Amino acid sequence: MNEKCKKRVLSGIQPSGYLHLGNYFGMMSRMVEYQTKNELFCFIADFHALTTTPSPKTLSSNTFNAACDFLALGLDPDKTTFWIQSDVPEVTELAWILASHTGVGLMDRSTTYKDKIARGVKSNMGLYSYPLLMAADILLYDSHLVPVGKDQKQHIEMARDIVNKFNNNYGDILVLPKPDITKETQLVPGIDGQKMSKSYNNTIPIFGKDKEIRKKIMSIVTDAAAIDESKDKNAPLYELYCLFADQEEKNIISQKYDAPGLRYGDVKIELYEKIMDYFSPYREKREQLLSNPDDIIDIMCMGAKKAKLIASEVLERVRTAVGLNLRL
Ligand code: ADP
Ligand code: TRP
Repeated sequence: MNEKCKKRVLSGIQPSGYLHLGNYFGMMSRMVEYQTKNELFCFIADFHALTTTPSPKTLSSNTFNAACDFLALGLDPDKTTFWIQSDVPEVTELAWILASHTGVGLMDRSTTYKDKIARGVKSNMGLYSYPLLMAADILLYDSHLVPVGKDQKQHIEMARDIVNKFNNNYGDILVLPKPDITKETQLVPGIDGQKMSKSYNNTIPIFGKDKEIRKKIMSIVTDAAAIDESKDKNAPLYELYCLFADQEEKNIISQKYDAPGLRYGDVKIELYEKIMDYFSPYREKREQLLSNPDDIIDIMCMGAKKAKLIASEVLERVRTAVGLNLRL
């Protein structure tokens, strides 16, 4: 296998609604950072979003918006291979081949599946085999590193199990991927203190309206400590503030939390201003992009063509390994 493959970074995001600070710090901002140093592959996982059967209109508009958001946040289609998952349907062929080599017990262990069913999402075979398709996404591009938040770690461990089993059977065919999870951003808290997630309705949207973002920030849960007491730093407001603070600002806020006199309301207003300042250039870029929707579609088509080149190469290797290639 090619040396270059060892540095390939890949991740995807489901187009399942507006994106929030958890998505941004857990995955998106890190992908944008990677593109200067690594060979980066990034896609919008619309096949995965289909597993919860949104309406056709919702799925296609969410897919378009997710592509636009990523581009606005700095993903550069000249440096990165950026595409829509279903535009490279080879991934479903690899998923089928992997399915035929994966025990049912592995899928049964998926905690995200159990969690979704417990939350009332209707079960279907796509939802059940979600981790298999995700493994195919990663393996089809010989990916080495997969930047995600902590909630996706088990899926990548499953992909690793699948690779080990497959390579044991057929030799060194698939690249063994590694999750890339950072301590500071692995679990961004929501406004209620649980993991920030669309499913918990506790998010701060990246491209929400000013008023909506302000309202969300003002409702971040805080304890009932009196103004003359020191404050608990192990809390969502403090953690969210630190995501937007440089080292000096972190030292100052830490001292303020230790000393009497701090008002949570003041920290919330400061956080709101920081968030608005931070995302302001990205909002402008997004508006520009939205004024030329055809350009976004062209960018995604170009990305799919680039992705297909690698996908066909890897798929051919896998087909040959398992005996699906007569032209040998
Ligand atoms: P949601 O939980 O809102 O549905 P997704 O499951 O679509 O979010 O997550 C998309 C990406 O963002 C994944 O890589 C996931 O790990 C990351 N992510 C989502 N929420 C968080 C969070 N609160 N903290 C860190 N990363 C997160
Ligand atoms: N499961 C991921 C999420 O919900 C999206 C995803 C699909 C993905 N395929 C992937 C992430 C491959 C990393 C690699 O966010």
